[in-house]
Amino acid sequence: MPTESATIRIMIDAARAAAKGLARDFGEIENLQVSRKGPSDFVTAADMKAEQVIFESLSRTRPGYGFLMEERGAVEGTDKTHRFIVDPLDGTLNFMHGIPHFAISIALERQGEIVAGVVMDVASSVIYWAEKGGGAWANDKRMRVAARSRLPDAVFCTGVPFRGKPGHAEFLGELEALTMEVAGIRRFGAASLDLAWVASGRFDGFWERGLQPWDIAAGLILVQEAGGLIIEPDSDRNAVLETGSIIAANPSLAPMLRNKLRLATPLGYVPR
Ligand code: 2AM
Ligand code: CA
Repeated sequence: MPTESATIRIMIDAARAAAKGLARDFGEIENLQVSRKGPSDFVTAADMKAEQVIFESLSRTRPGYGFLMEERGAVEGTDKTHRFIVDPLDGTLNFMHGIPHFAISIALERQGEIVAGVVMDVASSVIYWAEKGGGAWANDKRMRVAARSRLPDAVFCTGVPFRGKPGHAEFLGELEALTMEVAGIRRFGAASLDLAWVASGRFDGFWERGLQPWDIAAGLILVQEAGGLIIEPDSDRNAVLETGSIIAANPSLAPMLRNKLRLATPLGYVPR
């Protein structure tokens, strides 16, 4: 059984509290699909409510810590060494379309390093969590990245650049290069869960560009604590939270995936 710290417990409590509201709101979404305006205002309200619940919960239990939140942006704390990085609703487009694949993502950064992460799959109530040095867990089950080490056996997940983003042609070039080499490629639309599923060994790897820190901060420690690597497709720096471009995979496949991507798009793409 895992031994979780007080810190991870308060992060899980915050996620659970927000999940209640999101689950209730998701139940309403179906009824809104037929309205002319669609559910977008409703979804924005659900997102804001979830963020408020997380903000209040964490501010109460860890007064002084700073925040970086998708809706609220940066909130300075009196404690300059700790910051929560929060996406109250990752996979918004899924949520809006009644697709039950969306998550709450909460990471804790200490002196610039991610030391704890919680990703909650709200529809299935699975909580993926990890603390530095403590392993990665799905509820109370230990997670490990997959052991597969050959591209023809690998199932990779990715994110397709969405409307308004550059890089569509480059992405298609990468897709073409990879589909010829691997067992399969999937696209599910919530980066935090994609990373959780790399940690759990469902996916052998994941890559996407142009992501925001709150999409990946919690997921990256899940992957690392499950024995996986987080690297960048376009450089050898190790600054995925800054660049927003990420490869996550087990240690054998991560460099192979990077090589294939670099061959397809030698100059990289999608600066934020
Ligand atoms: P979000 O749902 O919190 O916005 C999918 O490629 C990833 O990109 C998701 O983690 C998603 O997070 C993010 N994303 C940001 N803007 C998006 C958009 N307009 N459409 C789809 N995904 C978006
Ligand atoms: Ca997100």
